[in-house]
Amino acid sequence: MIVLGLESSCDETAAAVVTADKEVLANVVLSQNDAHAPFGGVVPEIAARAHVTEMDRLVDRAMTEAGVDYSDLSAVAATAGPGLIGGVLVGLMTAKAIASVAGVPLIGVNHLEGHALTARLSDDVAFPYLLLLVSGGHSQILVVEGVGRYRRIGTTIDDAVGEAFDKTAKMLELGFPGGPAVERAARTGNPNRFDFPRPMKGREGCNFSFSGLKTAVRQAREALGDMATETDISDLAASFQKAAVESLIDRLGRALETFIRDYGLEGSLVVAGGVAANQYLKAALQTLADDAGIRLVVPPPKLCTDNGAMIAWAGIERLNAGYTDTFDLAARARWPLDPDAEPAPFAGYKA
Ligand code: KG4
Ligand code: ZN
Repeated sequence: MIVLGLESSCDETAAAVVTADKEVLANVVLSQNDAHAPFGGVVPEIAARAHVTEMDRLVDRAMTEAGVDYSDLSAVAATAGPGLIGGVLVGLMTAKAIASVAGVPLIGVNHLEGHALTARLSDDVAFPYLLLLVSGGHSQILVVEGVGRYRRIGTTIDDAVGEAFDKTAKMLELGFPGGPAVERAARTGNPNRFDFPRPMKGREGCNFSFSGLKTAVRQAREALGDMATETDISDLAASFQKAAVESLIDRLGRALETFIRDYGLEGSLVVAGGVAANQYLKAALQTLADDAGIRLVVPPPKLCTDNGAMIAWAGIERLNAGYTDTFDLAARARWPLDPDAEPAPFAGYKA
């Protein structure tokens, strides 16, 4: 089984060719960083146009690199949501065209499902597992029970953690994309200099909150004024990163207790999404997993940030489970992985 996977829901145009025996034959990612950098964030219209310009060339490159012909494909998978709708449309329409000409099934993949199943492409991970999904648009804790079976037990009541990294980078003028820039600056900083809040720490449930932390960083930055040195900036970055990670670990620790009570130590703890590329977070997760006596799986960074291989792989998993889509499949801006999950309480809700 060979599947072509397309991703275009945010600011990466990506195409990959993956086989059912977990061979990534090609995985081409074109980042639009330079196009968005002047604005310090992703501009939806610029993203959509860039996807239109690049997608066909990128697919061509992936197919050539993989040494695969369109007639060799078993299916074409594309992100069908959630994401910036203009971009999602580009990938989904391209996939429909290719699937239709090649005469193979179309598989619409939930972008979050792509992230959620990545660990099964990079490592041997059986269901069920506890998943920390942390990206620019999402912060969730889910129990992954099987393909298409996701139980959300925690989510953010305001910002996603990746967004907090991006906003912090912007406030500290560290450049775009923010996550890697904050991590780099933090490496030489003092994480204990600023006593930032650990949002939600010790609270009931497993929900996250990051907007208060973001405000605290802004206030600390403003207090330093124009005289801020490079050391000040590194200390701010390191202190922010420590607070954000401690908050994640506190929430995840609670979820892990419940997961282990329900499923024992046979399951795994898995991380996914762009923020999973953060080495400081990875180290903290390893400590949490070691203390609990459970296996931790962190896919390699290039499979954590947005890519086509995770979409192709989710396509393979869905195909194996018997799910395909028809050509009237619509692109979706919003598409929760667990539609039965209780909506997150609004920020400030104290229960
Ligand atoms: O999964 P992803 O590539 O796109 C979304 O679906 O959102 O995640 C992108 C997010 C951005 O917020 C980016 O700043 C963050 O992941 N990120 C990081 C790191 N690398 C990417 N955050 C912290 N540390 C990193 N090394
Ligand atoms: Zn993503």
